[in-house]
Amino acid sequence: MISPATIQQIQGRLDIIDVVGSFVKLKKRGSNYLGLCPFHNEKTPSFTVSPGKEIYKCFGCGRSGNTISFIMEHEKYSYVEALKWLAARYGIEVEETFRTDEQKQVQQAADSLYIINSFAQQFFTRMLLETEEGQDIGLSYLKERGFREEVIKKFQLGYSPEQRDAFTREAIAKQYNPELLVKTGLVANRNDQLVDNYRGRIIFPIHNHSGKVLGFGARILKTNDKAPKYINTPENEIYVKSRLLYGSYFARQAIDKADECLLVEGYTDVVSLHQAGIENVVASGGTSLTPDQLRLIRKYTNNLTIIYDGDAAGIKAALRGLDLALEEGLNVKLVLIPDKEDPDSYVNKVGPAAFLSFINANKKDVILFQLEVALKDAGNDSTRKAEVVNRMAETISRINKAEDFTKQQDYIKQCAEILKVDENGLHTLVNKFIRDRITAQERKQPFEDAARNEENARRAEETGYDENTFNLLFKDELQEREVARILLEYGDRNWDEHQLIAEHIFEEMVDESLIDNQTVLQLLHQYRNVMHQDRSAANKNYFIYHTDTKLSSLAVSLLNLPHEESEHWRREFSQSTGYQQQLFRLSYEDFINKVKPDNSEDLMNYLKIGEDKTHEEVTSAINYLKLRKIKRLLIENQLDMEKEHSPEQFRMLSETHHHLKEMEMALSQKLGTVVIR
Ligand code: GTP
Ligand code: MN
Repeated sequence: MISPATIQQIQGRLDIIDVVGSFVKLKKRGSNYLGLCPFHNEKTPSFTVSPGKEIYKCFGCGRSGNTISFIMEHEKYSYVEALKWLAARYGIEVEETFRTDEQKQVQQAADSLYIINSFAQQFFTRMLLETEEGQDIGLSYLKERGFREEVIKKFQLGYSPEQRDAFTREAIAKQYNPELLVKTGLVANRNDQLVDNYRGRIIFPIHNHSGKVLGFGARILKTNDKAPKYINTPENEIYVKSRLLYGSYFARQAIDKADECLLVEGYTDVVSLHQAGIENVVASGGTSLTPDQLRLIRKYTNNLTIIYDGDAAGIKAALRGLDLALEEGLNVKLVLIPDKEDPDSYVNKVGPAAFLSFINANKKDVILFQLEVALKDAGNDSTRKAEVVNRMAETISRINKAEDFTKQQDYIKQCAEILKVDENGLHTLVNKFIRDRITAQERKQPFEDAARNEENARRAEETGYDENTFNLLFKDELQEREVARILLEYGDRNWDEHQLIAEHIFEEMVDESLIDNQTVLQLLHQYRNVMHQDRSAANKNYFIYHTDTKLSSLAVSLLNLPHEESEHWRREFSQSTGYQQQLFRLSYEDFINKVKPDNSEDLMNYLKIGEDKTHEEVTSAINYLKLRKIKRLLIENQLDMEKEHSPEQFRMLSETHHHLKEMEMALSQKLGTVVIR
């Protein structure tokens, strides 16, 4: 774990303009900066960065966040990786806590392996490009295969000379530790002699997703040899085959933009496709996908297209990991390259354009493909065919995310057709597999959500309110988000001589049932706890940089521009009932009068509300929340009144109704004055 002191030091140094500016060309516009969004393709800039608030927001695609989340999103880093990247940038030494000596040793070994690999990569590149042997043998081979110098350099390809110990000698001379050299697989111990392991081979460095060299693939040149075609780095502290995908470092941004990841088998496939301008491609090394590799892909996209050569035994291996992919909600497609070609040879043969159109025209759905293969295998054997039906049902049952429901129904229909079985029967079978897993307590959450939605729908119907009004009262979380926003924005300022604004808010909001959104509630709780421990620690930065990403992204979205909110308000309020329209119109128009909504600059400025209006904002946020509560009570009371009652009971209920109405009026009036002013 990175120590809190280090994190604080990093945060103290952060300069969002500097960090974002190193990836995006930013132009100053008033107090903000504007540029082309790095997360989607656009021609006119809508990516806005506010140095004052330390946040960015794209008005085109809606992505937003802080400096750290920018690095996480743009570089596909974890929180810790992003912190380390920033620390390196600002020359801050990262202090890690809670590490045993053993953990420290592992870390040190890993660091050393990276250093040796980097040295080796440079050595092999130099051998390839600058020595006679390298040029004559290595480079001429690569060029013959059609690799151009720029792609060779980009992928840092290299050559290991024929000589027994060219690399070993240089590494030893540079004082690298012999034991570690063996661990990297670059050097082998033969009869107590250290020798080069990849002699006479082309070297493919394998990068992790931040560009550091994890290990190597070394391809033999001579074809008549009995030696293996490729030698790979043995598993060690940093080279863990199941966790890496060749090319991920060079592909990540292209995958993000294309929202699709192409998966091929080999190193040369990746390099060739890159050279052809197809950059969203990674290689698995021909083995079945592991959960870690799937997770790596999922970080970038939900769309995976596997491109393999037609008769490869590798296809079956690749398909083995797929149940997991489906479960994760990945859309998996398969393309088989014809005529004993592989992607590398095929793209060289037909060219980039034809290659791409072939891929797009021949994408097969992987489930249906699996079905075809299994059916062909089963032939006329009815027992085996029954097995296939079972297996397909099991596979389809893995697609059980709520949002994938239609997809699942489609599969059932299509598979039933191909298998020539009754659709309803297949349906029942799929459901059985789903039920079995639920009993195994695997997927609890989505069903709880469904129950809640059902409850909401039931109540909407019961109350007879139109949907918009009902949403406003029961489902809409605007009011509570607004209170949370006010708390973050102004909480640490003074309400009066005695109280902070946060303290005032908590005093006023006696009733926590006013808050439905669990994350908002969590934020309020934490704010209060932190404030009690240390009055000055509770502020927006505490939450913007919170390690719980649920909280930090809520904070960021709250502190953002009211752009989305305003759209939403306009829609809701223009459609809600007349009474509510009256109630809200003023505040909305008040808002509109100050800003031209298509001008992000003004929106940003609007956020800098003068100190003098803070009190009103606080009061009005709390009052809107209270008003909603009263309206809810009114509805509940009304529903109660509609039931059978004794005259006495009825009298009490209508008194309550009266009382609530009075409170409603009073509050509305207050809000009116606050808002109109
Ligand atoms: P070229 O034949 O140069 O085009 O290489 P390729 O990358 O197309 O190789 P191929 O299609 O034969 O194999 C696909 C991938 O499987 C390779 O990129 C390697 O990752 C892996 N592979 C192939 N042969 C071997 C081998 O002998 N040993 C190991 N460890 N991996 C291999
Ligand atoms: Mn090949």
